[in-house]
Amino acid sequence: MEEFVVTVDGPAGSGKSTIAKIVAKKYDLTYLDTGAMYRMIALYSLENRVNLEDERSVVEMLENTKLDIIGNQFFLNGKDVSAEIRTPEVSAVVSPVAAIKAVRVKLVELQREISKGKRIILDGRDIGTVVFPKAQVKIFLVASPEERARRRLNEYKEKGIEEDYESVLNSIKERDHIDSTRKESPLKKAEDAIEIDSSKMSIDEVVEAISNCIDRKVG
Ligand code: CDP
Repeated sequence: MEEFVVTVDGPAGSGKSTIAKIVAKKYDLTYLDTGAMYRMIALYSLENRVNLEDERSVVEMLENTKLDIIGNQFFLNGKDVSAEIRTPEVSAVVSPVAAIKAVRVKLVELQREISKGKRIILDGRDIGTVVFPKAQVKIFLVASPEERARRRLNEYKEKGIEEDYESVLNSIKERDHIDSTRKESPLKKAEDAIEIDSSKMSIDEVVEAISNCIDRKVG
């Protein structure tokens, strides 16, 4: 089977994972949430109080973390951490963790390994620029910070996590800033990516826009 790669990059809360899951089902693609992988490392660093400034501690952390992804479940050293990685606490530390070069080297390698020979859709920040620069379809999904904060707040509500709008908005802006200004693989649109602003679009409309891009490639 020939490898077919769709990349969806964009800032925090732009709806990448919701959309990517639906598109995956529609086209029978494997879905890989690369943000969840960074979140697992961030969770480990929190739980083990890893000093992120210290190179040796970071190397040791990477040696001690085994990530397994089975469907939509995420296992850190054998433990299902699918819920823990979505908390505001993890969101607050994930961007500094993801800015560390050694962390990115390990996870990008794993992402390529998982994708090998597959028809796959991946979402993240650097998938179309760094991980799969030759992907067949590249999407850059954006939305206003206010809309993204509203969506994230709703997700928290559904999970019973109490947060207020202002702190979610601030956390999103902070993460956007770190992700787009970091030295290693910053968040940016690949030159050949199609940009979609989902601020005023329904989920169905975004799925349709992406489907059109895929159909043009495979049709
Ligand atoms: O879902 P949300 O937009 O909140 O973020 P995520 O996709 O779960 O990613 C969490 C964090 O991981 C991002 O803020 C980035 O710092 C980092 N990340 C990255 O650096 N590269 C990726 N390919 C995916 C995520």
